[in-house]
Amino acid sequence: MPITYSRRLHWTTPRNRLATLLAARRAARAPLLDLTGTNPTQAGFEYPAREILQALTHPGALTYDPSAAGLPQAREAVAGYYADLGFNVHPERILLTASTSEAYSFLFKLLCDPGCSVLPPRPSYPLFDYLARLELCRLSSYPLHYDGAWSPVPELADTTNARAWIAVSPNNPTGSYLKQHEPARFHAAAPLPIICDEVFTCYALREDPSRIHSMAGQDTTPSFSLSGLSKICGLPQMKLGWIVASGEGASDSMARLELIADTFLSASAPVQYASVQWLALRGAVQSAILSRARENLAILRRLAGPTSPLTLLDAEGGWTAVLRIPGSLSDEERVYRLLDQDNVLLQPGYFYDFDGGTYVVVSLLTRPGHLEEGITRLLRRVSDT
Ligand SMILES: Cc1ncc(COP(=O)(O)O)c(C=O)c1O
Repeated sequence: MPITYSRRLHWTTPRNRLATLLAARRAARAPLLDLTGTNPTQAGFEYPAREILQALTHPGALTYDPSAAGLPQAREAVAGYYADLGFNVHPERILLTASTSEAYSFLFKLLCDPGCSVLPPRPSYPLFDYLARLELCRLSSYPLHYDGAWSPVPELADTTNARAWIAVSPNNPTGSYLKQHEPARFHAAAPLPIICDEVFTCYALREDPSRIHSMAGQDTTPSFSLSGLSKICGLPQMKLGWIVASGEGASDSMARLELIADTFLSASAPVQYASVQWLALRGAVQSAILSRARENLAILRRLAGPTSPLTLLDAEGGWTAVLRIPGSLSDEERVYRLLDQDNVLLQPGYFYDFDGGTYVVVSLLTRPGHLEEGITRLLRRVSDT
């Protein structure tokens, strides 16, 4: 009996030529300078291993006593994280999930009927396409305009049937933060709640008083702030994220979100108990990541200086940087050739929906020696072609 599958996803997307080449090189154990890795647990950072593991031994984890929004201790610890950033968030406005990605899926369930749209920035994080399709929603993006700095142009979004704006602050991969005046612009373009993905907010690469570090705790614009241990503590494997509901309608939204969360109860008890300790340990890992990111940014600034054919786009925060490459070669072809001929892996801009030029995305978590060598090889090729 043939099985009829849903049409939420294109289940059989063929592997593209870059992925095929990469798989072949990995299978052959060919040398590779990978400048794309954003997994902090495999980037050579030192973690307080004993304390991290010890946190998983809380005796409370032996009892199943679920709470839809999350254990009170863990929600208080998350409220403490916001207090450290200067935001007053009541634990009752926090709902724990297994990840930020799951938090998106809960919010799409909360806000969208099938066929409704959500409005993410472009360029941005490629997972949105899957997250939306899995919830039977559409994406209708608004552009981020670049003129030496990034700014959103929400006026250009098609807001028909839209249920929420998505702001990623700082954005992956452009590194741009949401600015104080921008929520009002979104509201003027369409009065919808803002889902603000703040997973990278602690990784500012320079200071700027005009930016918004979090929408959590503000009491006007309906908003949902998303974050989690994945980036804040550099612990993506532990699987804990959250939603903070703020602004008008927050308590109603929380009640509905609890109903969704109660259906799955997906955040595990050991991880929730341990999160109290892990959040307290976040400082050391954050500083190690931030100092690596800043060192890499300095290398990129040097290699993409005024006499270089490469242009480094402004990077305010986060774990990625974007380079513009001159010439007529597409980013896909450029990245393919670089892997094939020079064993260097970069991400092509089209993964993130860049248009109007050749862009590549570099991870700022790369080991600095690898980054310098990889970009030097790129420069040699760019100068040759
Ligand atoms: C902007 C952004 N949001 C969310 C996530 C996913 O976070 P999580 O591991 O909590 O699902 C990522 C992961 O790279 C990301 O770049």
